[in-house]
Amino acid sequence: MTPRQVSPYRPVMPLTAYDLSGRTAFVTGAASGIGRASAVLLAEAGASVHCADRDTQGLHETATLIKAAGGTAHTHYLDVADRAQVEQAVASATAATGRLDIMAAIAGIMHNSPVLETRDEDLDRVLSINFKGVLYACQAAARAMITAATSAAPRGSIITMASGAVDTGGPGLLCYGAAKAAVVQLTKTLATEVGPHGIRVNAVAPGWIRTPMTDRHDSDAQAHTEGLMIRMSPLGRVGEPEDIAHAVLHLASDASAFTTGQILRPNGGVAMPW
Ligand SMILES: NC(=O)c1ccc[n+]([C@@H]2O[C@H](COP(=O)([O-])OP(=O)(O)OC[C@H]3O[C@@H](n4cnc5c(N)ncnc54)[C@H](O)[C@@H]3O)[C@@H](O)[C@H]2O)c1
Repeated sequence: MTPRQVSPYRPVMPLTAYDLSGRTAFVTGAASGIGRASAVLLAEAGASVHCADRDTQGLHETATLIKAAGGTAHTHYLDVADRAQVEQAVASATAATGRLDIMAAIAGIMHNSPVLETRDEDLDRVLSINFKGVLYACQAAARAMITAATSAAPRGSIITMASGAVDTGGPGLLCYGAAKAAVVQLTKTLATEVGPHGIRVNAVAPGWIRTPMTDRHDSDAQAHTEGLMIRMSPLGRVGEPEDIAHAVLHLASDASAFTTGQILRPNGGVAMPW
């Protein structure tokens, strides 16, 4: 019997695979929570980080944190639901170096309403920000990355922010969950289309993370959900923004060079889909 052929390919993957020196990253939702933690960590890993959000004060605070840590930050005030604003900001971010290496499309809003009380305006608002906002960022990034790939080593990582809501139903989650499910479909579809250009596209689907978004729930509902998540998690805790930032860093870096079209679930083990 002929022995099974083992691929001679052995990727050299030292810990420096997490080094993002010389790379340009664009992070939406960078003024708060998961987006802020991700922007700061990408900058600590060496990337020059373009922070985008509609919260000017929060953007300024994130840029200050990055600079205090010795990193490089730029800020872009924008509404992710406005295609022209997203395209303009990504174009200005890539103008200096001619390339974009990392897009983390993290901006999003929570919305809760029972199906029978959901209005067209609820659905439109959530889809505009949580789905179209991610789509516009992905399109602008992929175009910039494809242009760069023709002139230099092909490289690019796009990270979208889904949610544990894609794995479980929950009362009130129609608009939010539908938008996040669309983000997952976008991620998988785009991964198949841009892979040949050396661009990877992956989603992160966090569990319950303590951020200003979850703090906005009324305190009884928040305490109830947190208690439930802590009981459901084998790790016995809820997440912090830094837990998700590390997932973003992994997907942004060469350490995940063979990963595309996937959903990474830093959720404390609350859901374990196949
Ligand atoms: N916190 C969680 O438990 C959790 C769980 C799963 C997924 N997520 C997702 O993670 C992402 C970040 O959530 P977070 O918890 O850090 O929330 P957050 O409210 O702390 O941060 C969201 C950021 O997005 C920005 N933003 C919202 N709408 C915008 C718009 N139209 N244009 C530009 N910026 C806009 C906000 O200004 C804010 O800075 C969201 O996509 C959210 O759905 C969060």
